[in-house]
Amino acid sequence: MRQKLGRRKFLEHIFSELDIEEHRLHRSLTATDLTVLGIGAIIGVGIFVLTGAAAANYAGPGVVLSFVISGAACAFTAFCYAELASSIPVAGSAYNYAYATMGEMIAWIIGWDLILEYIVACIAIAIGWSGYFVNILKAVGINIPAWCSAAPGTVPGAVINLPAIIIVLVLTALLMVGIKESARFTGLMVLVKALTILVFILVGISHVSPANWHPFMPFGMKGVVAGAAIVFFAYIGFDAISTAAEETINPQRNMPIGILLSLGICTILYIVVAAILTGMVSYTKLNTPAPVAQALVLTGFRWGSAVISAGAVAGITSVLVVMLMGQPRIFFSMSRDGLIWPWFSKVHPRFRTPYVSQILTGVVVACFAGFIDIGTAAELCNIGTLFAFAIVCGGVVVLRRTHPELRRSFRCPMVPWIPLLGIFFCGWLMLSLPKITWFRFVGWLFAGLVIYFSYGIKNSRLNTRESGAGDSTGHQ
Ligand code: ALA
Repeated sequence: MRQKLGRRKFLEHIFSELDIEEHRLHRSLTATDLTVLGIGAIIGVGIFVLTGAAAANYAGPGVVLSFVISGAACAFTAFCYAELASSIPVAGSAYNYAYATMGEMIAWIIGWDLILEYIVACIAIAIGWSGYFVNILKAVGINIPAWCSAAPGTVPGAVINLPAIIIVLVLTALLMVGIKESARFTGLMVLVKALTILVFILVGISHVSPANWHPFMPFGMKGVVAGAAIVFFAYIGFDAISTAAEETINPQRNMPIGILLSLGICTILYIVVAAILTGMVSYTKLNTPAPVAQALVLTGFRWGSAVISAGAVAGITSVLVVMLMGQPRIFFSMSRDGLIWPWFSKVHPRFRTPYVSQILTGVVVACFAGFIDIGTAAELCNIGTLFAFAIVCGGVVVLRRTHPELRRSFRCPMVPWIPLLGIFFCGWLMLSLPKITWFRFVGWLFAGLVIYFSYGIKNSRLNTRESGAGDSTGHQ
């Protein structure tokens, strides 16, 4: 039994599965491409929605510092992601990294954890999308009643968040027939998001009243860290950059530039937006579905609010597409390894998309997006992601010991210090999340272990691949 839990997928097998020579990716991405890719995947609901909730409920104007703390956690982790992505170039999934470095059971936990991360991220993004969509309609004189535009308990009379449900179902249908975000589309979205944020900064800056920044940390440093654990969501998506290591020209140089530049640009934008937002209106007024638009309305810029809402809806849609598309890939990997049922990896005969897992993802996300609040979803997503990040950081240290000979087109600097700092920051943020989030997270992991022991362990492809199933020491 112990041997089974610790058996690893051998790197040689991962490479052969990929048929690496045949599928070797063309190296064409420059540092600028990576930066654009990163910003495209990062900016979304986190800055447009969660900044308001984090400021109102936890950090006050100190949410500015919350962004610095969670940005640091991401920067350390990003280097580790980049090293693993460049040495195990398998769809960039932390699940595969863990399978190669820490054994099957940890890999299962990570895969199961990533399923949670993607599902709840999609839920939170859909709810955030709905807030700004309703705001645009309001700006053009169409008022969607509260009963059908918010989850129960969030505003009086709310029953169901229909816009959130509809956007998820529409995008799921499009993804099923196989739309793809092209590089040009990503570039356009980055431009829209950057312009939206710049418009907000330019309009908002003249309406900052420094009195709103006092008190700066109404709930103390504890509130700031709790806020960091929420706004961490705003950075999720940067791992998309590190997964492009194999397609990058001179990754040793361009990877760190791409990672640091996109994280750096987003951190600066986030800090400036957070400072202006909390300077324009009292932080107590920001707990709304569209806080950035709300601040403009409260300071008399109705047109600005409509423009920001339109930009936010476009930007958030592109992030939702990326996340809805990512989920089936995890199901796919785990199903291909025999750890979950084979129908998860069924490919549509005509569209060549993983339609079963795509539909399942869409239906589950839509059901929850209609009925829960964004904070609950974001917190659960964050705890799962932080956990996966910590394991990725640990994986770098483990892999350096077990496979020192591995070709790494990018090497994380200052190992083991950077990975250890990554683990420290991620752990710190996890501990700052509410107890109820921990209960939900542990409950999810427990359910996962039940499935692993009743199905995965018996059906793992490593059972049949005698030569591949090594013990926990890595020997066969
Ligand atoms: N970072 C992404 C967002 O904020 C997930 O929407």
